[in-house]
Amino acid sequence: MHRISYGGTSVDITAGAGMPEVLGWGRYSAARAAAEQNQESYRAGLPPATLDNHPPIGLFAEESLGFPGTPGISGHRPDGTGWSPRFVRTEERVDDASASFVLEDQIAGLQLVATVAVGSGAVVTIDAVLTNIGSTPYVVHSLAPSLPVPAHAAEVLTLSGRWCMEFQMNRRPFIGSTVVENRRGRTSHENSPVVFVGTSGFAESDGHVWGAQLAWSGNYRVVAERLGDGRCYLQLGELLLPGELELAPGEAYDMPRVVATCSDNGLTAASGRFLSHVRQSVRPAELGPRPVNVNTWEAVYFDHELDRLLELADAAADVGAERFVLDDGWFGGRRDDTKGLGDWHVSPDAWPTGLSPLIDRVRRHGMVFGIWFEPEMVNPNSDLYRFHPDWTLTTDGYDPVLGRHQLVLDFGRPEVRENMFDQISRILTDHDIGYVKWDMNRSIVQGSGASGRAGVHRHVVGLYELLDDLREAHPDVEWESCSSGGARIDAGILARTDRVWTSDSNDAADRQLIQRGASLLVPPEMMGAHIGPPASHTTGRVHSLGFRAATALFGHMGIEWNLLSMAPEDRTALKEVIALYKEHRHLLHTGVPVRLDHPEESLVAHGVVDAELTEGLFSVASIATRSSSALTPLVIPWLSNKKIYRVEPLFIGGEKPGVDFAPPGWMDGGAEMTGGFLGGHGLSLPVFWPERALLVRVTEVSS
Ligand code: DGJ
Repeated sequence: MHRISYGGTSVDITAGAGMPEVLGWGRYSAARAAAEQNQESYRAGLPPATLDNHPPIGLFAEESLGFPGTPGISGHRPDGTGWSPRFVRTEERVDDASASFVLEDQIAGLQLVATVAVGSGAVVTIDAVLTNIGSTPYVVHSLAPSLPVPAHAAEVLTLSGRWCMEFQMNRRPFIGSTVVENRRGRTSHENSPVVFVGTSGFAESDGHVWGAQLAWSGNYRVVAERLGDGRCYLQLGELLLPGELELAPGEAYDMPRVVATCSDNGLTAASGRFLSHVRQSVRPAELGPRPVNVNTWEAVYFDHELDRLLELADAAADVGAERFVLDDGWFGGRRDDTKGLGDWHVSPDAWPTGLSPLIDRVRRHGMVFGIWFEPEMVNPNSDLYRFHPDWTLTTDGYDPVLGRHQLVLDFGRPEVRENMFDQISRILTDHDIGYVKWDMNRSIVQGSGASGRAGVHRHVVGLYELLDDLREAHPDVEWESCSSGGARIDAGILARTDRVWTSDSNDAADRQLIQRGASLLVPPEMMGAHIGPPASHTTGRVHSLGFRAATALFGHMGIEWNLLSMAPEDRTALKEVIALYKEHRHLLHTGVPVRLDHPEESLVAHGVVDAELTEGLFSVASIATRSSSALTPLVIPWLSNKKIYRVEPLFIGGEKPGVDFAPPGWMDGGAEMTGGFLGGHGLSLPVFWPERALLVRVTEVSS
């Protein structure tokens, strides 16, 4: 057996002749115990009426050995052969933290090079490249690694939702198989390429949890399965459309990376490893404090009028914003959402004097200027489409299905990528621009590439390539991934962008849940969270500034509210909020994000603590009316038991979380409590009104 380890996580993998099998993974103890169970003498007996062997859950599980679940590798040659390969290990290289295997099946004509590693954030990563070493083409159906999880995992957690209600946590018993399939061509609002399983009733700070995600922004298939013999595994891979990936002799497929995590003490610690991994693999602290964005979309939509935008820039600077992002509508013939996509030159109609007057004003205020693009899209009513109608991901002979009046360009074609690189680069070179909001507003339907084959895979590879090239050419620009809000948030895009637009919903009550789910994958400093107007543009619901601000504070904060139409007292209150964000952003963006458990479902609580456990900022939000007014105290188990903390409420704009006639004693000017008390008894809570939040600041007093 090989054991690789890093940062407290280990993976045990079979030594031997065939496909490697992960025997156990996790904290040392869990991995060892699981590995021992799998040693010959500990192996479970064979149930009757099964095969004569015990089919392993190979790293790429093989049907050819009787694996009864979803095979980890499948495909075929033109004559149908090669569909059920069985690999022989020809080489292996194992060091402390990684193990690489070269595997071959001479009969099927395939070579597989797979690497399992434990790295930054103490996550497990799995990479693999499949090469066709045969003499005829090989069509790949799937290449998806399997990670066994102990049979005492009893519940499955996935994320699902819809536009404006993304990242909802779904739990179900771990029985049979749970399959999440995405065929939308982008990561999607509806699902996320991630799965967690855990022991019965696992909570944020309790229970054993295992999780895995796929670093991929296209189609995917995520499986959590309990086999008939009781063994359990997770399997994640790209979902390839029929015939989408044919490898010519000598050609290779580099599958998207799988990133896995685990914890012996709950979901927050498990997802925390995902976040640490992201923090260590993207442009980290070098980007500095995350600036306050003002985004123009909900303030002006397509109504681009220079004087109004100049005034908006002045107002943005006045409230303390640090980045001003001009959204959709500045280019080509784009006066509404029916035309112009693809023509990335400054519109002479809307901007007769160009963008410079606005950019100059923004820069004079010391703010960074940002701009919106939707590079993968083209409107049939655009010059680009008139010149290159064949550049889209569509299928000859069929009427294409439009989405928001637009089609998807085929980024699988080098000439399309070159065109976009040149158009975007020209705008970035000719103007003083420090930020790009990269949008993607429709899913891909019947998307064939130039050859007539399904083109999603190549499109996503091309997207990554273009983003990488643009980032290299414009190293000072920051990039935001937006896709009608949260439809493109995954580890693949997080490795290439500096921020995500989490959801088009700025409704604070919905955002509490959206951000909670997204916090499984996205660190707060990358999670775009804006304060919208009192009445949400996507739900019509009216919320107080205190509630909206407390919600946006726990992400990368911005403003989506029309600063020109707000009352003077609102502007003053907003300034206070922005000052509060600036005061706490170091803690919020470098500390350890934690989610808190509370038995009352309508109470959403989370926070951030610094690594030394000397300070923390927490939020408790009430998102609905309850039948009982008395609330169980909020247990905060993330502080140091022995330390004494000063615990005090922060009232944004003086706003209280609810009726004020007899709040808990600590809310009247603060109180001192030990971390042990907060983690044991918990913090007494006031009677909340619905859709109100309470911020709690915790600061160490002495040891
Ligand atoms: C969808 C985005 O999520 C919005 O923020 C905005 O940029 C619009 N697209 C613009 O069309």
